Amino acid sequence: MTTILEARAITKAFHDDGASRRPLDEVDLRVERGELVTILGRSGSGKSTLLGILGGLDRAFTGSLELFGRDVRRLTDDELARLRHERIGFVFQAYHLLPHLDVIQNVLVPTLFGLPRRDDRRRARDLLERLGLGDRLADRVSVLSGGQRQRVALARALLCDPELLLCDEPTGNLDSETSHEIVELFGELVRRDHLTIVAVTHSDELARAGTRSLRLDDGRLVELPHEEAR
Ligand SMILES: Nc1ncnc2c1ncn2[C@@H]1O[C@H](COP(=O)(O)OP(=O)(O)OP(=O)(O)O)[C@@H](O)[C@H]1O
Ligand SMILES: [Mg+2]
Repeated sequence: MTTILEARAITKAFHDDGASRRPLDEVDLRVERGELVTILGRSGSGKSTLLGILGGLDRAFTGSLELFGRDVRRLTDDELARLRHERIGFVFQAYHLLPHLDVIQNVLVPTLFGLPRRDDRRRARDLLERLGLGDRLADRVSVLSGGQRQRVALARALLCDPELLLCDEPTGNLDSETSHEIVELFGELVRRDHLTIVAVTHSDELARAGTRSLRLDDGRLVELPHEEAR
């Protein structure tokens, strides 16, 4: 087994306006290659905060985090940026797309930060077709619906063939049929391409398709028995 991610005693606190919050209190999590781990938890429980840390976007925490066997705190900013770019795909809760670019340009954004490969455009088109957006390639993102934007963000995260995909509610805005297709796609990516996925989700279907389900509660991650995830 190859360990993709190992978090130990991750603690994160925010102090503002005199108030102090600690959404993450000594969180431990280890994820092996090919796992699909889902994370549940009430609104405000710290799921997005955790995902940002696991993806190397936020290093202001205590505890330790290894990604692909490397201690993220020992990496320079450039090394960490490269690791994220080459090996991690991230789907943000708020998508973070560029509204004035069209769909395919948004999916191709990662190629601006690395060496573009000859088949990037074809790959972007294939992904978008697979995600049901094949007829929207030239539309500006600002005219798309929430669920369509969510799928563009997913295509962008998958473009560089990441080894680890981190998703913040990837099916949150989708109807049950489209959401079912995303769950199928995730299953296929995990089985066929050995992609590793950590997804914050309230979807029972996605949780059932996963290898493990966890709940973030009171700053701790609790493993759920598989049936309870339903
Ligand atoms: N940048 C920040 N500054 C101060 N507090 C923050 C910041 N980001 C998050 N928090 C606080 O940390 C807690 C967890 O927030 P987080 O966004 O991780 O929750 P969440 O579980 O993703 O919620 P949701 O399901 O609504 O997306 C909240 O109480 C929030 O107010
Ligand atoms: Mg969130």
